[in-house]
Amino acid sequence: METYGYNAAASSALLLPDMEISALQDVVLRSKLPSFEALRPAREPAAPINGLDKLVQELHRIFRDDVVNIEHVSEVMASYQSNPADWKKFAKFDRCRYTRNLVDEGNGKFNLMILCWGPDHGSAVHDHADAHCFMKMLQGTLSEVRFRWPDGDSQQDQEGEDDEAGRPLEEISRTDLRLNDVCYINDSMGLHRVENPSHSDPAVSLHLYSPPFNSCSVFNQRTGKRSQCNVTFWSKRGKKIDKEARSATVPEDN
Ligand SMILES: [Fe+2]
Repeated sequence: METYGYNAAASSALLLPDMEISALQDVVLRSKLPSFEALRPAREPAAPINGLDKLVQELHRIFRDDVVNIEHVSEVMASYQSNPADWKKFAKFDRCRYTRNLVDEGNGKFNLMILCWGPDHGSAVHDHADAHCFMKMLQGTLSEVRFRWPDGDSQQDQEGEDDEAGRPLEEISRTDLRLNDVCYINDSMGLHRVENPSHSDPAVSLHLYSPPFNSCSVFNQRTGKRSQCNVTFWSKRGKKIDKEARSATVPEDN
């Protein structure tokens, strides 16, 4: 069973790094990984984008095409310089956990959202459901810790299963993301966990997922066991969703 890797069919707008379109059947994001990693720190933008609204407009324009260049998306997101006046209406915090706040649905091709991290808040280790994930820092610092996929990843976390069975996930990198930094990940690059390392300061990040997804896998860091997890929003377009829907939010999603 294939448990990870890029699924071209899952993407309504196919994203490609710099490569020939004729190589599309072989989209081998994996072979291009070094160039994605080199995006950190993000390159200087050719043309600045003034305001979050302009960024959303530009992303819509980019995703109208059938082929989307990953580096270009990263550069465009990097070229927007965070201004809290643009995004504070979307930034809704919770005391207990980080929140996901929908900004824009990208005509069904992507979801753009703002994640608000209180001090010490963090995610579980998770995958990205065969989607592309771009993440830009709007405020504060986040630590991104990447892990290799567990060997023979087939073990669903079953109720009553011995929690001690399995092996710890292997950490492969650890990066501090600072104001306006952009990072990119897809499932072929591994799993990750994101956390706010500050005990006193909040952090805010802007995430683009394409295609949008409603569930992903989360992993037990000690055992490598995976389980499925629904992902929901704390607010949509600046308005909190109703309490019942919020309470259905799984405490540790992506
Ligand atoms: Fe993630």
